[in-house]
This record gives sequence, C-alpha cells and structure tokens, in this order.
Amino acid sequence: MAAEQQSVAIAITGASGAVYATRTLAALLERGVHVELIVSDYGRRLLRDELGETAAVERLRPYLAERYAVPASAGTFTLHSNRDLGATLASGSHGCSAMAIVPCSMKTLAAVAHGLSRNLIERAADVMLKERRRLVIVPRETPMSLPQLRNMVLCAEAGAMILPAMPAFYQQPQTLDDLADFMAGKILSALGFEHKLYPEWTGKVESR
Ligand SMILES: Cc1cc2nc3c(=O)[nH]c(=O)nc-3n(C[C@H](O)[C@H](O)[C@H](O)COP(=O)(O)O)c2cc1C
Repeated sequence: MAAEQQSVAIAITGASGAVYATRTLAALLERGVHVELIVSDYGRRLLRDELGETAAVERLRPYLAERYAVPASAGTFTLHSNRDLGATLASGSHGCSAMAIVPCSMKTLAAVAHGLSRNLIERAADVMLKERRRLVIVPRETPMSLPQLRNMVLCAEAGAMILPAMPAFYQQPQTLDDLADFMAGKILSALGFEHKLYPEWTGKVESR
C-alpha cells in the first residue's frame, strides 16, 4: 500500500500494552500516513499509567517525536472524540482505508463482536466491517473467558483480523522496544504496509 494521502484509523482502548499503540502510531507517521486517532477514556488512562504523563493524549505528538524520533515533516494525525458519533469515521462514505484497535480491551472486543456502535471506536469498527475494509483487533487479556474467546470468533467471522498482543521470542528480543517493534510490525503488515520493524525469519534462530 502506498502511504501518501492515506488515512488509517487507530483506536487505543484500556487494555495493557500502550507501548504497542505508540510504536504503531510512530511507524505509520514515519511513513507519511494520516492517522485518525480515537482514544477511549481508559485508553487515555493506560497511556499515562504505563508510559507516563508525557505520553498523555494531548502531548502525544511531541512524545512520539522525542521517543521515536518521528520528524515533524512526517504524517499527521487528527484526534477524534470517542463521544462524537457524527465524526467522519462514523460513516462508510469517509475514505479511511483501514483501522486497528491497539490494544483492544475485552469490553471493546465484546462491543465490536455484537455491533453495538455506542461510541466512535465501536462505530468506526462497525463501519470497517460493513464496508469490508481491514479491521485489525489487538486483544490483550489473560487468561480468557469463554465469552471473550467467542467474541474473537465473532469478529473473525465478520472479517476482522484478530492479532493478539503476543510478541515472539525467536527473534531474541533484548529490550521492551524489541517486543513493541515486533507487534507494531505485525500490525503494519496487517494494515498493508511494508516495514523493517523486525528481522525477516531466515529459517533459523540467529544468535546475537
Ligand atoms: C491499569 C489497567 C489495566 C487494564 N488492563 C486490561 C487488559 O489488559 N485487558 C482488558 O480487557 N481490560 C483491561 N483493563 C480494564 C479496561 O480498561 C476496562 O474494562 C475498561 O472499561 C475498558 O474500556 P474501553 O474499552 O472503553 O477502553 C485494565 C484497566 C486498567 C485500569
């Protein structure tokens, strides 16, 4: 997918793993993508709890610039209110090509599975499914209940990709950033972007 002029929706909800969201955002911006960002109330809390006050939603752009050296000339993002069901993302006529919910709480997963559309994250996800566009759901919970497992099946049956927050260890990660890079790379691939966020599998574990 060519990155220029594209708009991709990223939703951050209140599941653990805020770093997966910030790494994904930085990688999309580095590619010149326009990101339409929606953050739930608990997503806002998780950003601050896990990454600190400098990663609060209102300071996210400078945070990404400093943390990941995203140049000011890179892509842009629009922050939408999760309460605004009249936002562009709420309509299938808006040309947003893909959406990732990263990380995705079990609550939002349940809402998407059942088409509730009570807030903009849920509605935008519903739009992606009805328009047959890419919807990538990055759930995080452990262990999982039967209803949670069933909700993932429902979303997958409706056309979403379930991409659990499960970084691999065969790449011999040395840092938390290596784990976040792996997940962000998987998400970018699922959204249709090329990247070099983790080394390609060569058929054997490379010793460091
Ligand atoms: C620190 C913290 C960590 C949480 N981690 C998870 C999690 O990993 N997975 C999950 O499904 N919910 C988790 N929750 C609970 C959700 O945030 C809660 O269910 C919330 O209502 C989700 O709402 P949202 O989907 O609108 O963001 C966590 C809450 C807090 C405060």
